[in-house]
Amino acid sequence: MIHIKIDILTLFPHMFDGVFEESILKRAIEEGKVTIRVINFRDYTDDSHGKVDDTPYGGGAGMVLRCQPIFDCVKSLRTEDSKVILLTPSGVPYKQSIAYDLSHEKHIILICGHYEGFDERIKSICDMEISIGDYVLTGGEVPAMVLVDSITRLLPGVITDESYQNDSFQENLLDYPTYTKPRVWNGLEVPSVLLSGNHEEIRKYRQEESLRLTKEKRPDLLDK
Ligand code: ADE
Repeated sequence: MIHIKIDILTLFPHMFDGVFEESILKRAIEEGKVTIRVINFRDYTDDSHGKVDDTPYGGGAGMVLRCQPIFDCVKSLRTEDSKVILLTPSGVPYKQSIAYDLSHEKHIILICGHYEGFDERIKSICDMEISIGDYVLTGGEVPAMVLVDSITRLLPGVITDESYQNDSFQENLLDYPTYTKPRVWNGLEVPSVLLSGNHEEIRKYRQEESLRLTKEKRPDLLDK
């Protein structure tokens, strides 16, 4: 069975309370498809007062995460199978194709920055830097949750293959619209082709709707 290990390095482990205890992620963990560990890298500091940050060289606002706690923490966890990822707004933009590639890894180490930033030299021990979007969050914790969720649902048997084969962004297209009972709600009708029982017509309709919606809402996806 495919099994992936994800270690999350953070100064705020309680931010993850509950996230992995519901729904699909909970089941994936219970079924042994993924093991998630949340590790406080403050436990690795050599500073007797537990300090993990310091003032920036050259001056400026805020504090900067020091190299030592993160280097030592990563060193204690890393094996030749590990992929070390730093969450940062200056990383590569995250997308479904990256989630898919990462779902084939054996061990992922996610480093969540916080505060003003981290010592640039921390990047030297990372295999990849990822941003989840062009906005700045208080830290890498929410991005780490986004990665864990999007990777876990792609692991074999976590959701049905059919579910994710129809996902938005599969082949750079948005998902087609779906409907359920009743057939008419507040005067709004379900497209008749979906009630026709003609599977070929339904397949064509869905394909056309995917393309139409992508052209309308995300034409940038079609340029790729
Ligand atoms: N840390 C702060 N903002 C972030 C973002 N948009 N993506 C990844 N990590 C971040």
